[in-house]
Amino acid sequence: MRTGSPLTPPWRLPILVRVTSSPTPAAPPGRLFEPIDLRGLVVPNRIVLTAMVTRLSGEDGVVNAPIVERYARFAAGGAGLIVVEATAVHEARSGPLLRLGDDRFVPGHRALVDRVRDAGPSKVALQIIHFLKIARSGWRQTVDMLGAAELRGIVDAYAAAAARTRAAGYDAVELHMAHAYTLSSFLSRLNRRHDAYGGRSLEGRMRLATEVVLAVRRAVGDDYPVGVRFDGEECVKGGYGLAESTQIGLRMAQLGVDYLSISAGGKFEDAVPKPGEPLYPYTGYSGDRTMPAAQYPDGANVYLAAGIRSFLRAHGHATPVVAAGKVPTPALAERILRAGEADMIGLARALLADPDWPRKARRGHDDRIVRCVYGNVCKALDENFRQVRCVLWPKDAPHAPTAHPEDVDPPTWPTDGDLRAELRPGGQVALAWERAIDPFGVYGYQVFRRVNDGPFAHLTSMTARRHVDAFALAGNRYAYHVRAYDFAGLRSAPSRAVEVAVPEDYALGDGVDLGIGPVGGADGDRV
Ligand SMILES: Cc1cc2nc3c(=O)[nH]c(=O)nc-3n(C[C@H](O)[C@H](O)[C@H](O)COP(=O)(O)O)c2cc1C
Ligand code: SF4
Repeated sequence: MRTGSPLTPPWRLPILVRVTSSPTPAAPPGRLFEPIDLRGLVVPNRIVLTAMVTRLSGEDGVVNAPIVERYARFAAGGAGLIVVEATAVHEARSGPLLRLGDDRFVPGHRALVDRVRDAGPSKVALQIIHFLKIARSGWRQTVDMLGAAELRGIVDAYAAAAARTRAAGYDAVELHMAHAYTLSSFLSRLNRRHDAYGGRSLEGRMRLATEVVLAVRRAVGDDYPVGVRFDGEECVKGGYGLAESTQIGLRMAQLGVDYLSISAGGKFEDAVPKPGEPLYPYTGYSGDRTMPAAQYPDGANVYLAAGIRSFLRAHGHATPVVAAGKVPTPALAERILRAGEADMIGLARALLADPDWPRKARRGHDDRIVRCVYGNVCKALDENFRQVRCVLWPKDAPHAPTAHPEDVDPPTWPTDGDLRAELRPGGQVALAWERAIDPFGVYGYQVFRRVNDGPFAHLTSMTARRHVDAFALAGNRYAYHVRAYDFAGLRSAPSRAVEVAVPEDYALGDGVDLGIGPVGGADGDRV
């Protein structure tokens, strides 16, 4: 059945509804598509959409239609577990953020859960959060300012919100104990309290988190999965690392927490202040570590999940552990699972860029995945309280586009891609190419680069038809080609290759020899 014409913009196509009668393609060998049991909740695969605020709600904190559609789109892509964004357990104001501090918020969440269930096979959890006060003046409340009644209030608010989470129909609740927020700040080595909830001992720092887990368990019952997200490393001077996060993991496992989702950093202590703006905890190095950008290695934080998991296994606990942080490809995800470094793979930006990542991986179509370029435009939108979206989506699309069902042919080039390269002063290579053709629309372009005689590797992706590569060094050759991709992720043939040879005296001026010597010849046009 046709669901639109080639002229229908792909983001206006209906989000695919699950068709239960169609045969499920055989799972490829490997761990990524093995189900996992979380206290009786069977999650169909090991891919977790980790919580990611959308900033789509109003200041009222009520679930609205755009939020529902955003999560339906994720579900259509086939992630095993969707963790819906951080949702406040209390009534404090904090810009556009979901809330569950009162029964009046429950119907909106129920509608979200129902829609997600209709749209795909995913199980759906809600992340619940408490945060302290923060002002534009730069002032912020810290854990040592809280009195006994406020601590009691935090525990009660978590328990009540967890009960509402269950009442709304979510399959699980996740307690946010990571980054800059209240429970994380208690766990922190920088907790300055001197009482029983204080920084003198790890037991003291864990006390509030322990009370919250126990109260939540009482509120939701023994047959309901409760997950916890915490930092494996604070990534700030004086903060804790694996030596203590393994102990936090141990306590959570002993309390019967059903999965541990390991994050990193995201602290106020090293955040960069902006005059007149409330501090955003992801602007310093620790924030870089939460959402590692392109300059960080793939799987940058996996060692934290691996360390906690191996500690738990050595101490007799089988609690599943989620690893997250720049896992771009199914191949890397599979490697992490096979190496026993994690039980589930957390993806946030990779799924924002392409919610169909799981579906494509399941079919062995890894090359059709629209790859996140980790430039963190989405993070900047979050920082500025603007609606979070991906820079790779079409300009006016409210969520990632859906492929037209009849889009089965890849884009083509009118000629050969007409790729041109210009070497600019300062070691930049400016690339430009022609517009590709596809009856259902071209979605974007992938740029590949080869250094000297090495292999071509994906450099970046974009919707524009030009790119400046600022990483060309004197005395080396850089070859490029470009491939266009459509909304189904189908890729054109590579454009013609162009090679740029950067002269050896380019770095320091005429006649200065770096001693590199000739680096050989290659195919493609030479600039
Ligand atoms: C825009 C944005 C919002 C985020 N919001 C949350 C959140 O609400 N709760 C949370 O625990 N982590 C949040 N994160 C962190 C992600 O869950 C994830 O741990 C991080 O982005 C690293 O994974 P990735 O490399 O797959 O993106 C957010 C990340 C981004 C980019
Ligand atoms: S905006 Fe950039 S970092 Fe964020 S999901 Fe899209 S490509 Fe990835």
